[in-house]
Amino acid sequence: MRAGVNKNIVILISGSGSNMAAIVQASRRQHWEERHGARVVAVLSNKPDAPGLSLARELGLATTALDHRGYPNREAFDAALIAAIDRHAPTLVVLAGFMRILTSGFVAHYAGRLINIHPSLLPAFTGLHTHQRAIDAGCCFAGCTVHRVTHDLDHGEILDQAVVPVLPGDDATTLSARVLSQEHIVYPRAIERLLANEG
Ligand code: GRF
Repeated sequence: MRAGVNKNIVILISGSGSNMAAIVQASRRQHWEERHGARVVAVLSNKPDAPGLSLARELGLATTALDHRGYPNREAFDAALIAAIDRHAPTLVVLAGFMRILTSGFVAHYAGRLINIHPSLLPAFTGLHTHQRAIDAGCCFAGCTVHRVTHDLDHGEILDQAVVPVLPGDDATTLSARVLSQEHIVYPRAIERLLANEG
């Protein structure tokens, strides 16, 4: 990311988009455009009915839905996704609850500018069902991790983390809500730090 260059941020979602909204709101509240030349320019989803798309439109953002079921394979979908993302000339591509395994071609294309949030304290509990697995393992603490995306799923450089307690009586629903409230703090914080450090 270079100083004086407009830094376009594109966010990819599949679901409710609460992390996306937290990032957009933080970017406005903290004046990222004036301070870092950065703004969220578009939200893309592989699910046309993702509630996060309407939320993004309410926030005044351009949205695109690209239904992965309309493509013959992962490579074809990712090629279309790259084309849709690159229309916005992004400095940073932010995965926020984007529930698709990405091809190595996609990851390579965005090397150094692709980040994700994962709902566990990596390197523990890569993959799915992180909250239930943390409870089943008897963890006293859980949390979330913002990390760079590399070819190795959920293994890229850790950029930020937040920790929450696992409380007696927790189930995956109560624990995920506690973790999600921290995701909304840690994800904008990690992005802002990237913008500031790599400005
Ligand atoms: C978050 O818990 C994120 O960590 C996980 O999916 C969830 C997305 O939530 N990958 P939202 O769509 O941002 O509300």
